[in-house]
Amino acid sequence: MAMASRIVATLAGALAAWPAAVASAAPAGKAVFDSTCAVCHQSGGKGMLGLAPALAGTLAPLLAAAQGRSYVAQVLVHGLSGRIVSQGQTFNLAMPPQATLSDADLAAVANYVARDLNGSSAPAFAAEDFVAARAAKSSHKDLRALREGLLK
Ligand code: HEC
Repeated sequence: MAMASRIVATLAGALAAWPAAVASAAPAGKAVFDSTCAVCHQSGGKGMLGLAPALAGTLAPLLAAAQGRSYVAQVLVHGLSGRIVSQGQTFNLAMPPQATLSDADLAAVANYVARDLNGSSAPAFAAEDFVAARAAKSSHKDLRALREGLLK
């Protein structure tokens, strides 16, 4: 009984914190982006030829599809290598996995990329999406095939 009511109290606390967490997702996500991703993807996700593709204004068709959202989550957790074409430019580089970030930070930075950099109105990324991405076993080749299929 005591245990059960403690769980209920914890859940209630988590739910009470939820709107605040959502409201602060964008600034937290930008902070993660600036400290972790911008070294390659550049400030504002504008990208740099020979270093990393642009993330601003390039991902809308992916973000609109559940599989594409899974692609983005898996790229963050597992990285990506091999040839991709973005904005008509070929990249054949390697992004290291960002799996040392917490699921909450991954969700925040994914929401910054989706909403602020791509104007996506798809449902927000949540920590659970990154639990699933960590468990997913797609190879980089699988991820590139998924990406190509969705960008066609
Ligand atoms: C060390 C450099 C580096 C860092 C740090 C890095 N990336 Fe990348 N990222 C890349 C490269 C390079 C690619 C393309 C890989 C390829 O050519 O296959 C890429 C690809 C991506 C893609 C896929 C883009 C597409 O068009 O499909 C996403 C999404 C992405 N990165 C997000 C992020 C986010 C968010 C972070 C920070 C948490 C991050 N990256 C950190 C180098 C980096």
